[in-house]
Amino acid sequence: MSEPPKSLQISPIRNGTVIDHIPAGEAFNVLRILGITRATKETLSIATNVASAKAGRKDIVKIENRELKKEEVDRIALIAPQATINIIRNYLVFDKKGVQIPKLLHGVVKCPNPGCISNTNEPIQSRFEVTKKGLHCLYCDWYLTEDIAGHII
Ligand code: CTP
Repeated sequence: MSEPPKSLQISPIRNGTVIDHIPAGEAFNVLRILGITRATKETLSIATNVASAKAGRKDIVKIENRELKKEEVDRIALIAPQATINIIRNYLVFDKKGVQIPKLLHGVVKCPNPGCISNTNEPIQSRFEVTKKGLHCLYCDWYLTEDIAGHII
């Protein structure tokens, strides 16, 4: 069976942001980070499990008329460290940047330890340092190593 041309898989956008090279299956977590729900009015295209020369399969999220905040890009970096953020203006790629996981995460992930002071009623934001072993809670020493996406605030 013949394949349609690749360019028809997902339309180009006029103005906005294309988040490309998302690991296959993670587009839905990216939408959650961006606070996109069924009530969102922005025009959105999502492609999941599309062929990628670099990664085999990847996801892509295109949002029209929106540029991302640093807090959003930092969260995306945690689940999609190879992602590129493309700013599109008048159909052209105006800017293309990789993402970088910050060394310290303040109020970005929820500590899995129910006894952690960041999970009490105190007005304390979670604080994690990013280490090779995982995300290290600076309050209770817990290491978050699995399901980081599920702990992103
Ligand atoms: N794109 C888009 N609308 C446009 C221009 C580009 O949706 N008007 C998308 C492309 O489909 C691609 C991404 O933005 O997913 C980046 O575009 P481009 O840099 O042209 O593609 P590549 O060279 O394949 O990017 P990379 O080198 O980052 O893989």
